Amino acid sequence: MKFFVDTADVNEIRELNEIGLLDGVTTNPSLIMKSGRDFTEVTKEICGIVEGPVSAEVTALDFDGMMKEAEVLLKIADNICIKVPLTIDGLRACKALTTAGHKVNVTLCFSANQALLAAKAGATFISPFIGRLDDMAINGMDLIGEIRVIYDNYGFQTEILAASIRTVNHVREAALIGADVATVPPATLKALVKHPMTDKGIESFLADWAKTGQNIV
Ligand code: E4P
Repeated sequence: MKFFVDTADVNEIRELNEIGLLDGVTTNPSLIMKSGRDFTEVTKEICGIVEGPVSAEVTALDFDGMMKEAEVLLKIADNICIKVPLTIDGLRACKALTTAGHKVNVTLCFSANQALLAAKAGATFISPFIGRLDDMAINGMDLIGEIRVIYDNYGFQTEILAASIRTVNHVREAALIGADVATVPPATLKALVKHPMTDKGIESFLADWAKTGQNIV
């Protein structure tokens, strides 16, 4: 499973990238707002930190506007992936951009039928939003499973990018179902390492080591 980090915080991105955890980054207008930074400047900086795709979202709602914005975004760096919303105009922009050889992440997916349309439009990534479905008392993970079955049924190459991840269990379940990518907030990504037995094990090994009176260096 590939890991993308869902943030526009360059310090977090740098730290996670140095550990070797990152295959890419996803941003959205809310995350840019949260960073408090100039959009172009922060996006360029992120693209320089990671080698993988960096999703930058268009804000226009019509096809022509999306294409104009995509043109500007694509100039920021070679690893820009254009993020478009799951609307008819978004799908049209997806088709045009992927046909021209660019990567496209179709975002705000909440149904299997929407995911089917995105794959038909040649999307590089489809982003089903797990957490936002869970918020409505609908099991977001069921959607990941449905999309996996549909894509495998027809051999679609579109990668399932599990998004709106809120918990470590979301990551585990999405991996078990076979999502290709998970985009995870930094804190949740770091929380994947945690296990009380690991901490307990370290504690008891160190206590015994201290009794030996030895040092490695
Ligand atoms: C995906 O690309 C989105 O940026 C993100 O996962 C949305 O998550 P949220 O529902 O926590 O805002």
